[in-house]
Amino acid sequence: MLAARALRGMRASRRGMSTAPDWSKLGFDFYPTRSMLRYDHDGSGWNGGTLQQDFELKVHALSNVLHYGQAIFEGLKCFHCADGSVRVFNSGANAKRLRSGCERLQMPVVPAPMFDEALDRVIKDNLDFIPPYGTGGAMYLRPFLFGHGGKLGLGPAPSYTFCIVASPVGAYYKGGLQAIDGLVIEQYDRAAPRGVGNIKCAGNYAPDVQPSSAAKANGFPICLYLDAKENAYVEEFSTSNFIGITQDGTLVTPSSPSILPSCTKGVILQIAADLGIKVEVRPVPWAEVATFREVAACGTAVVLTPIQSLTRGDKVVRFDSFDTIKKLYDAVTQLQVGLVEDKHNYTRVV
Ligand code: PLP
Ligand code: COI
Repeated sequence: MLAARALRGMRASRRGMSTAPDWSKLGFDFYPTRSMLRYDHDGSGWNGGTLQQDFELKVHALSNVLHYGQAIFEGLKCFHCADGSVRVFNSGANAKRLRSGCERLQMPVVPAPMFDEALDRVIKDNLDFIPPYGTGGAMYLRPFLFGHGGKLGLGPAPSYTFCIVASPVGAYYKGGLQAIDGLVIEQYDRAAPRGVGNIKCAGNYAPDVQPSSAAKANGFPICLYLDAKENAYVEEFSTSNFIGITQDGTLVTPSSPSILPSCTKGVILQIAADLGIKVEVRPVPWAEVATFREVAACGTAVVLTPIQSLTRGDKVVRFDSFDTIKKLYDAVTQLQVGLVEDKHNYTRVV
């Protein structure tokens, strides 16, 4: 259904028209909006960027992005708020993470003011695709940057492109506080201790496509990876970071050099501290997980998704209380749509 509607929208958008989606039916799928934004870098600096009405990019067949994986992306959201404004959530953290990834992959950095300006341009051109306040949806923003141009040997690309695509979205998994089942991936590791798990590069995601698809086919919508060295510590989910709540209500979340620093988690830890919840960021042994009262996945797309079970081999660990997760979920989703005071300036009016 949604695919057919998306196709109609795509055709309409190609004809220069745009149709609003059925807000109540949105999942986490691309819905063609009016435009995407593209900036180019030829080795001497970024150009001024242009909005384009199709979603096609033409690149040389020998581009770094296609062969050597020189590609990075971000994910963040903006919202129609209770007061009628549109706010982008926590974009400073995404700009910072993008910078660290560009430096690691030797790609030109997108300065924070350019990042914000780009977000504003694409949001303003697609305002009518932002789910209205009260629908529970958001506009997902997908900035990405990659190296291209004809080049055979391994080394920096001659050219780079930075784009932002916007798409209205609903829930990534079941939605709201509906709990899902997770599978611990045993046969593969996600990221090595001194690898690139701590940046949002495209190459971290391709190796997860097969294990995640297999897990999904077996009834597990989400996968959890353990550390690559000892297979004894929790790292993160395929799509998100790990949060556990102990029996005494302490929020515990892994520290590891090989997990992605979640921008959402930064906000959640601050909210937890504001609510008087004790927070511990430290290595989390898998053996400890069975003692947790609550477990959740946290990230831009998944927000805070409660996990009701984690299966590792023939052992299943279950969680059936989500009181603390609910408190945090309510606080973060209210902050996103401007229903509570933004004491730490996480939101920016566009
Ligand atoms: N970990 C992984 C592997 C992710 O893909 C994401 C999503 O971006 C996260 C964690 C959560 O990060 P954020 O909260 O910045 O979306
Ligand atoms: C996000 O949450 O923004 C992500 O990039 C995760 C992705 C798997 C959708």
